[in-house]
Amino acid sequence: MERTARAAGKVILLGEHAVVYGAPALAAALDRGAVARARPSEQSRITLGTQPAVDGEESELGRAFAALRASLGAPPHEVTAELELPPGCGLGASAALGVAIARAVLLAAEPDTELGSGGADARVLEAAAAWEGVFHGRASGVDAAAAASRGCIRFSKSEGTEPVHAARALPVVIAVAGPPASTREMVEGVARLRARRPEVVDKAVAAIGALVQNARLCIEAGDLPGLGKLMDLNQMLLSGLMVSTEGIERACAAARSAGALGAKLTGAGGGGCVVALADLDPKPVLAAFEREGLACFAATIGGEEAA
Ligand code: MEV
Repeated sequence: MERTARAAGKVILLGEHAVVYGAPALAAALDRGAVARARPSEQSRITLGTQPAVDGEESELGRAFAALRASLGAPPHEVTAELELPPGCGLGASAALGVAIARAVLLAAEPDTELGSGGADARVLEAAAAWEGVFHGRASGVDAAAAASRGCIRFSKSEGTEPVHAARALPVVIAVAGPPASTREMVEGVARLRARRPEVVDKAVAAIGALVQNARLCIEAGDLPGLGKLMDLNQMLLSGLMVSTEGIERACAAARSAGALGAKLTGAGGGGCVVALADLDPKPVLAAFEREGLACFAATIGGEEAA
């Protein structure tokens, strides 16, 4: 029987890249994400959107699908999946696909599965990690953790996911500040910098970890101006890790001049998206991004019980 499942896209509020080296990160699920349909079939085949179907393991997509199925111990399945997010822009498109596909395959292969139960969710996250591993190499797991959650989360490699309750809803505006960049290449760039200048990267990782701890307190206390300042500081540290671009800096500056409380890149950087924290009304920030010619949208994070 065919089964359908969804997963969320994500925005990282603070902590990208440092999370790869063990620091915590704060992330939140977005309403838009990915939807997948799966049904058992003689031969495995996967179709993403309007792209041609893939049924071998020659391509990255074929290998990622095989790794996901192997992790679930699932027999061959036919899968179709669609994205509601731009890929490669830092909004967790590939993790959303991985989680949605893993959920749909698990439901189709084992119809008694109850998503939301600890065992099934852990299997989905493991399968999504296997999928992400093919595309992103050294992924921390934060994207898949956010894709499988609701509201705001704190994630670290050693402690996994913990819900964070936002005392006040966080009005954010997300803009595409540059062309897509490869997460794998951006993560490898930081690893190369660390091999050359370990003290620079390790200090930045520790500083970002401290910003994340404080940002969590701000979110829990509803201190939006405090959170905005910490996002700006995180952006400076990300620039020091060489993952920012002129386009990202310009977009952040435009958001701040329009009254945003803070702005930074989100995801791997090198292009892709920025996230700005609006001061109640997102419209002036949306208008500023539009004046810069950037595609953008507003979203609200938390403010209800995180799950
Ligand atoms: C990408 O959304 C976040 C990174 O920290 C990579 C990862 O954690 O897997 C850049």
